[in-house]
Amino acid sequence: MAISIRQVGPGFAGEVEKIDIREPLGKADAAAIHAGMDEYGVLAFREQPMTADQQLAFTRALGTLEHSIGTSLRKPDEYRLPTTFADVSNLDIDDKPLARDDRRRLFAIGNRLWHSDSSFKPVPAKYSLLHAIAITSTGGNTEFAHMGAAYDALDAATKARCEGLVCEHSQMYSRQQIGFLDLSEEEKLRFAPVCQPLVRVHPVTGRKSLFLASHAGGIVGWPVPEARIFLRDLAEHATQRKFVHAHRWRKGDLVMWDNRQTMHRARPFPVDEVRDMRRTTLAGDAARQAA
Ligand SMILES: [Fe+2]
Repeated sequence: MAISIRQVGPGFAGEVEKIDIREPLGKADAAAIHAGMDEYGVLAFREQPMTADQQLAFTRALGTLEHSIGTSLRKPDEYRLPTTFADVSNLDIDDKPLARDDRRRLFAIGNRLWHSDSSFKPVPAKYSLLHAIAITSTGGNTEFAHMGAAYDALDAATKARCEGLVCEHSQMYSRQQIGFLDLSEEEKLRFAPVCQPLVRVHPVTGRKSLFLASHAGGIVGWPVPEARIFLRDLAEHATQRKFVHAHRWRKGDLVMWDNRQTMHRARPFPVDEVRDMRRTTLAGDAARQAA
C-alpha cells in the first residue's frame, strides 16, 4: 500500500502513515518520501520500533550516509555507537546519563540552540533521521522552523542585503553563545570554521532559503559584532512561534528533516533521566548560492 502524508505543522511538517520502516523500502515509496521531504521539510514516522540495522537500511535506501566522526567531545574510545550514527543521547559508554558538569554533556547541549546539522562541515547534511529509543518523562521536544518560509517573509531590502553574503560556521561559535569556551588546541583546529552562503537554493525545488545556524559566527568582510547582530535578527525573525512546529516524541518515533531548508533545536529535559536518540544522516551536496 502506498504511503500517505498529512500536514501537522504551520505550512510545513508532515506525518507519514501506512509504512513499516522495518520492511525494505520500495522505489515508489522512496520517491514519495523524497517528494514529501521536498514539500514538507520535516516528516514524522510515528511509533516505529526498529533495530540499528533497520534504521541504517532505511537510511541507505534514501541516499549516501554521512559518518559522524570528530564532531563531539567524545574521544574515539568513548563512542557508544558506530560512526554510522550520531549519538544524540545523554549517555556514556555504559549507558548511564552523563553528569551535569560533564564537558561532553555541556558541549552537546549546544544542540538546544537553533541549528542546521553539519553546517560546520564543507558539505553540510541533507536529511537527518532521528529515532527515539528512550525518552524522558517530560521535556525534550524537538522544534523545527522552515527557512524557505522565513526567507519569503523577509522584506525586499533585507532580502537584497542577504544576497551574496557568505557566513563562517563552526561549532566553536555556537558554544561561545552558551559560555562553553574551554576547548583544547586540538579541538579548536578540528572545529575550524567553514564558509556557507547565507541564501541557498534548494537543489530540487529551486526555492530560496536562509541558511542559518547558531554555528554561524561571522560574515565574510563584515565586522564580527555587526555580523552577529545581523544573524541574530534573522534567526529571531525565522523562529517566531507562528513559524515553529514542535515534535512531541513518543518512544519509537523516527523524525526526518531536510537540513537544506529547516533549522531545529532540542528543548530541555531532566538531567538524570535517560534520553537515548540515534541519528543517521544523509550527506548533502555543497550548498548552492542563490544566483
Ligand atoms: Fe541537530
